[in-house]
Amino acid sequence: MMHTTDRTVLSVPGPAPTNPLGRLMNLWRFSQDSISFTRQLFQTYGSIVSLQYGGGTNLYSSLPECPGTIFVYGPEAVKQVTSQHDVYYKHPLSGRLYRRKDEFDRTEPLKHFVVGLFGVNENQHRQHRQLMMPAFHRQQIEGYRDDIVAITQSALDELQASKDYDMAQVMRQLTLRIATKAFFGEDIGATESNLGQLLQSALSMIGTPQMMFLPYDIPGLAYHRFLNQIAHLDDKMREVIAHKRSAGSQERDVLSMLIQARDEEQGMSLSEDELLGHAGVIFAAGHETSSNALTWTLFLLSQHPQVAADLVDELQGVLQGEAPTIEQLPQLPLLEWVIKESMRILSPVPWNGRVTSQETELAGHTLPAGTEVFVSIYQTHQIPELYPQPEVFNPHRWQTINPSIYEYNPFSAGPRVCIGAGFAMLEIKIILAMLLQRYRLEFIPKVRIDPTGVIVLSPSRGLPMRCHQQDHQFAQGVGGVWGRVREMVRLPES
Ligand code: HEM
Repeated sequence: MMHTTDRTVLSVPGPAPTNPLGRLMNLWRFSQDSISFTRQLFQTYGSIVSLQYGGGTNLYSSLPECPGTIFVYGPEAVKQVTSQHDVYYKHPLSGRLYRRKDEFDRTEPLKHFVVGLFGVNENQHRQHRQLMMPAFHRQQIEGYRDDIVAITQSALDELQASKDYDMAQVMRQLTLRIATKAFFGEDIGATESNLGQLLQSALSMIGTPQMMFLPYDIPGLAYHRFLNQIAHLDDKMREVIAHKRSAGSQERDVLSMLIQARDEEQGMSLSEDELLGHAGVIFAAGHETSSNALTWTLFLLSQHPQVAADLVDELQGVLQGEAPTIEQLPQLPLLEWVIKESMRILSPVPWNGRVTSQETELAGHTLPAGTEVFVSIYQTHQIPELYPQPEVFNPHRWQTINPSIYEYNPFSAGPRVCIGAGFAMLEIKIILAMLLQRYRLEFIPKVRIDPTGVIVLSPSRGLPMRCHQQDHQFAQGVGGVWGRVREMVRLPES
């Protein structure tokens, strides 16, 4: 429950208040380039800053009144925000759209659209998470290995040597297929109207300027199309749930496991609306995240030929061209370090977003109830005392460092630590191991590489790469990178 207090003014340092147009500009800049925008704020004001001194901004909270927005980084802040479960709440991923849920019949699906684990707190969160855990147990996750291998194999068969691809798109499509199969049990390749595609298309509309500024249910407007899509999605999901219920307990995908989940003591199970919410969140949280981790890793390897050569040696030495088995994964230490270093330097999820449920103290400042708090996972990974030369991509640093969960937290920490971290690591390792043994991907300097986004960090214009059979010519395609990624990673000059 949200505890209300007397109105305290947000006094965290930050830029002077601006007019509504200035606030919109800041909102737009943050949504486009949250990393550079906040790096400048942190440099000017320190490790805790407000988007606007005195508050008056609202980026994400679904509450009608928001005292303001703050950004913070560093292990202490990560610890406080991620472990104080009763003070730092999460709100539905549909953010400000969620407010419109009671407006009329057509907005009714907003009650559960991407609400799931992100929209429950305290006891309810604990209960739901407990019900979901069996679907994410290690053994259960390892059971997805064969599906991941089969789908990856089929996607790799479609790639052709000497052709150019947007690898961000290729990875997105691949992880979408894997997510649709593992989460919903559907394997329909690249067909148009599967659940994954429907969800993806509705998700991509959240937070777009057309939706924010013209939220009217009038034919021709984006909001009208969005409401049509979520109505269609609801019908489709309810059909799938009914089908799975009638099929009994044979299927092992995540949604089937959630349908069967029962709290042993209280006999509680998830309602249909809760299932819809969880399915949306698991899908939203579990597919673009992995695809961006993969995309950024391919990019970093293309610019670090020695690391790429060592990694392919390790993979081919252990796997001899085959897909890894679960037992072989621990024999691939460099693969693990490469992924960890990639997620340190280009964190696929750059922020933890929370809303304070009551007045609280953070880094010496009082935050009123309802304050939006964004903890920078990315900036915490840039502290030189923890990571010497933080801008250098150096997977070998993981041989000697052992940061705490609050110092290195690409999957967050505390009671809300990513429930899919094990699945993600398995998926990313299998895909990279299969892809890199078979193909060399050469960076083509066609577009600027600008990391963009708040929920996930992705290259705004994709990642053009030329595909070659694996010929070990790793020096080709090194250099020529331009764009804001150069502010985040030290890259070769030419
Ligand atoms: C590289 C891939 C991934 C990264 C970097 C990542 C990162 C994160 C982070 C940082 C959080 C915490 C967000 C916050 O508290 O604000 C989170 C939560 C979550 N993630 Fe992941 N994730 C990944 C993959 C996955 C996958 C594959 C799934 C599903 C199978 C998943 C499902 C979830 C869910 C349901 C939550 C909410 C947990 C809760 O609130 O209790 N994630 N993830």
